[in-house]
Formats: sequence, C-alpha cells, structure tokens
Amino acid sequence: MFKVLTRQRNKRRFLTMSLAATSGMLSLPPECDARDDTTRWAFLSDTHIHGNPQYRFRGFCTYQNLRKITDQIGADMPEGLVITGDLARSRGSADAYENFKSLLAPIARERPIHLCIGNHDHREDFRLAFTGSARTAAIEDRHIVTAMAGPIRMIVLDTLLYVNTFPGMLGKLQRVWLETYLGASDETPTILFCHHAPRADLLDTRRLFEIISPARKVKALIFGHSHRYEFSQRDGIHLINLPATGYNFTGAQPVGWVEARLTSQGGEFTLHAVGGNTNQHGSKRFLHWRT
Ligand SMILES: [Fe+2]
Repeated sequence: MFKVLTRQRNKRRFLTMSLAATSGMLSLPPECDARDDTTRWAFLSDTHIHGNPQYRFRGFCTYQNLRKITDQIGADMPEGLVITGDLARSRGSADAYENFKSLLAPIARERPIHLCIGNHDHREDFRLAFTGSARTAAIEDRHIVTAMAGPIRMIVLDTLLYVNTFPGMLGKLQRVWLETYLGASDETPTILFCHHAPRADLLDTRRLFEIISPARKVKALIFGHSHRYEFSQRDGIHLINLPATGYNFTGAQPVGWVEARLTSQGGEFTLHAVGGNTNQHGSKRFLHWRT
C-alpha cells in the first residue's frame, strides 16, 4: 500500500504554476527565473505516532496533529513528501507504523513519500512496515533513498545508531557510499535529508562535512530531531531544521510542517504551524543555493 511512486512531471500542473508565477501569485526567490522549473514539496519531521491514537505528550495528540496536517497537504497536493524521521514514539512498533501508514495512505497512493529513520524508530519494525518502498540497496540494513524532484536531486540518509538514545551516526560505509555517489553524479543541485541535527547529536558531523563541503552540488541539509524550526549555514550549505509535527520541547517552538518550492537556484520555505507557537505561521524564508 505504502508504495513509493515514480511519477512523470505533470505538464498541465507545471503550466498552471508557470502562469501563477508570471501573474505574481507564486513567490519565487528574487533572481529566480519564472521559467525555471519549480517543484513543490511538503517537508515533515518527528511525527512520533504511537500505537494508541489517543496518545498525548506535552498536551499534544500526535495522531490528531498528523491527521490535521495530512488533510492540509491533501487539499493542495504537492509533488511529494519527505519526513525526516522519528516517525514513531518512542521505540517504534508495528502498531505505531500501521497508524502512521493509515494517516499517510491517501497521499501515498498519489505521491512519493520519502522517509528517514530516526532514533525513535525501530529498524526491523520499520523495514517490515515499509517493505516494498523504494530504497537503494547500497548498504544492507540502511534505509537510503535517492530520487529526482524536478530540478533537484534528493538523497535520504540513515542516521539511526541506537533506538531510543539521542546520538546518531552515518557510519563509515554510508559516508563512503555518499562520497562515491556524489562523485559519480552530475551537477544537479542536491539536497540531503537525515534525522539527526548536525553538530548536536550527529556523531560524524565533521566527517560528513569533509565530504559535502567541497561537493558544490550539495546545497542544503534538511533534518529534524531537535523539534525546532531554524535556519543556519555551514560552508555555504543551508541547514534547515524542520519543526516537529508531533510536539515541541518548548512552548517557543511551533508544531507543524514546511512547504518548499524548490528551483535550481534556491527555495522558498513556508511554515504551516498547527500548534505550539503559531506566531510564525505563514512566514516565508527565501534561500539561494551556493554556486
Ligand atoms: Fe523526535
């Protein structure tokens, strides 16, 4: 059921978006050519779905939050979704993944959904729940996905080290694979996704940046884990920390998801806050890719 789809770009949809752009309805980064191909995606993180749909944490019902968000996304379907891990709460389980899949099913039937695996996911239960999902078999027992999205290449990495403990790690095999893959790929602007926040809890952050900093095609790294909505940079690579859909750790942070319009030049990121601090709801952030 939760099959990742490969979809040809819908020419009519692209035409509609192009018309919207030229009429000023579509807000693109300043120097972005309106004729440039744009792909619109929904980025989510830290859904923390429990086996019990009534489960609440910090006053948030994670199941209801994701249902509200999937309703929002389904009402104006993007090209696809990426969810950067901690799909389950708190050690992963078969019933948690069944609830997660049932919430995403209406979208999964229509659009690709790329999943990261986080420290609150259970590798074996995840594998059983998502058997058949597209992934590269580059490294056994690591959930790695590569996909093209309009003008962008996406690489979904796996940073799960131990279940229900905070630190994460790519590991040497995955780093070697990434370096080789980047070296063999063309110059298509590339966005990396993983669960763990670099510096904070990704133990091989320094080694990761030794690989991606010189690879100019790498434009951004998108992750979750901290349940914070933040933008920063390292070596010109944009670091985008997605808010959690499940719950925040502090009332200052939103709970919600991010809508991204991506081009070969940059991206526009819009926050959709459904709870927590909603002051930034609707706020847009424009980023330009390094050259
Ligand atoms: Fe989390």
